[in-house]
Amino acid sequence: MSDFIKITSTDIPEINGSFSSHEELYKFSIEKPEEFWGPIARARLRWDKEFTKVMDCNMEKGVFDWFIGGKLNASVQCVDRHCEVDPDRIALIWEQDEPGKEQRITFRQLKEMVCKIANVLKSEGVRKSDRVVMYISISPLAVASMLACARIGAVHSVIFAGFSAEALASRIMDAGASVVITSDQSIRGGRLIELKKTVDAAVAKCPSVRRVLVARRTGNPVPIIEGRDVWLEEAMEAQSVECIPESMDSEDSLFMLYTSGSTGKPKGLVHSTAGYLLYASFTHKQVFDIRDGDIFACVADIGWITGHSYVVYGPLVNGITTVLFESHPAYPDHGRYWEMVQRIRPTQFYGAPTAIRLLLGHDSSYVTKYDRSSLRTLGSVGEPINHEAWQWYHEVVGKGKCDVVDTWWQTETGGICISPRPSAPGAEIRSAMPMRPLFGIAPVILDDKGNVLEGRDVSGALCIRKSWPGIARTVYGDHSRYYDTYFKPYPGYYFTGDGSIRDLDGYYHITGRMDDVINVSGHRLGTAEVEDALDEHFSVAESAVVGYPHDIKGEGVYAYIVLKEGVIQEHKQIIAELRSIVRTKIAGHAVPEIMQICPSLPKTRSGKIMRRILRKIAADQIEELGDVTTLADPSIIEYIIKNHRHCI
Ligand code: PRX
Repeated sequence: MSDFIKITSTDIPEINGSFSSHEELYKFSIEKPEEFWGPIARARLRWDKEFTKVMDCNMEKGVFDWFIGGKLNASVQCVDRHCEVDPDRIALIWEQDEPGKEQRITFRQLKEMVCKIANVLKSEGVRKSDRVVMYISISPLAVASMLACARIGAVHSVIFAGFSAEALASRIMDAGASVVITSDQSIRGGRLIELKKTVDAAVAKCPSVRRVLVARRTGNPVPIIEGRDVWLEEAMEAQSVECIPESMDSEDSLFMLYTSGSTGKPKGLVHSTAGYLLYASFTHKQVFDIRDGDIFACVADIGWITGHSYVVYGPLVNGITTVLFESHPAYPDHGRYWEMVQRIRPTQFYGAPTAIRLLLGHDSSYVTKYDRSSLRTLGSVGEPINHEAWQWYHEVVGKGKCDVVDTWWQTETGGICISPRPSAPGAEIRSAMPMRPLFGIAPVILDDKGNVLEGRDVSGALCIRKSWPGIARTVYGDHSRYYDTYFKPYPGYYFTGDGSIRDLDGYYHITGRMDDVINVSGHRLGTAEVEDALDEHFSVAESAVVGYPHDIKGEGVYAYIVLKEGVIQEHKQIIAELRSIVRTKIAGHAVPEIMQICPSLPKTRSGKIMRRILRKIAADQIEELGDVTTLADPSIIEYIIKNHRHCI
């Protein structure tokens, strides 16, 4: 089996000048960013007022302005423009959880929904730059609600509908939102999830919330609080299908999205209007080779950045049909994705390695019995993809005929930054690595002293040397946290938090997070967040959480727990309570798979927990523990190793 495949060409018609190679055009995008991004932004977005300057960026300070002086509205880019040309084109295909059930929405219908919801929000007193929290799973109403916020200049903050009431409440409070949009329930893999009830529990702690708009998903009865809750569809009925879009500055915030870091609470990263839209739509077009009439199936939820950039904004700015996948890859059986592909006939499929790993363990007839001939590109995102999963994706799903793109990026970057495509016609794609920087992205690898490692065959911290339009502009309400996290560690560079290798051929591989962030099924989790939750148990003295390799999830959560002296409660009972605390404080996906109760934790003489050692033990790499002589009490290691296999 060959370990590389050929790729097709990609062009950027807006760029003037002749370039003899992909490398030359890439170099131009880095060296002359104004000449590169200016014409692309002029051509690809509709401006109410054209910008007067392409960029003014300072990597030392972490301050970025793109398309200065320009005015535009995001919802106009996503719906109005396409409605004018072809109102009956399908904008959304909602692949509902119930097998075989789908709903198609045209650009005209989407525009009407957007305007009606925008008018509802206005009638609720929501104004430009107000924050609106959404706790809702993927549906046309959810997408229309995001765009409705954009239409009136409000900032949407979508919270993944798997987070607990407490996690939701802290995000509502951080954003100071007065309106929350949710649905009665959601349904995934046939299982009902009580969204409205969770919102009720969260909002009880949030005095800022005046109104909860409730969409109907299942129609099952849910408690309604008089005077506060309003059924969204009923409120929409009374509203006009027109709503004049608010003309926003390029740098006005389009949305915020929370993500976990190594310390403290999750951060509300803020994305801009013009730069974000341009970068999401440009990368979508270039990486996935988007052509008129394409149907794009990204199976991410809108609660994550992948859903924002490649379910909603990228495809809709590009005027193509986007699939909203509400279900689960193994529901009703392991052929769900491919049955959908046969029925909907998407041209691209974009999913997560964790789902691929889940599927490849099952009979390949779940794939092969369905017609996948519509597919041209298969994408992977969110975590490292292993060779086995990549090959299965390439050979079994794509029959060796599709381009497979491992795409590296982050909530912070707004869109894909490293991906095998675009690249020169015929250039190879290698298995399981993102390979090449996108236009305008200048990756660098630094050693732990902050020196830039030039040349090939080097590894270290992955940083980006130059600004690009899609970079998040700040952390909501805390710009110094933004600066400290991303620009202070390596002055003059954006620090991604990831490690990377530039190999002998100059291709980039991602080695994983360098900080205390773990990636569970593509969900980013701060170990400190989980520890904070565990430490709330009255019997817990301290805890240390690390990631360990997990066959399906990529990483699993491993918690080492130290109990207070004199605790007599049964360990099994404590562990059950700890699970429930993490579920209540954060979310189901944060609950540790493994918990080990230990008498103490390995610490240095200055009291720092030696996480490196705990990670090695969790990963079963006992022989690679390294130097343990600096520990205050080396005997604890022996104890932990001995009991490592007997944990719960
Ligand atoms: O560690 C990297 C990993 O996911 C992190 C970003 O997570 P999040 O902000 O939730 O965004 C996920 C969707 C873009 C990164 O810092 N990651 C993302 N893509 C890849 C990856 N790791 C390896 N390979 C990838 N292709």
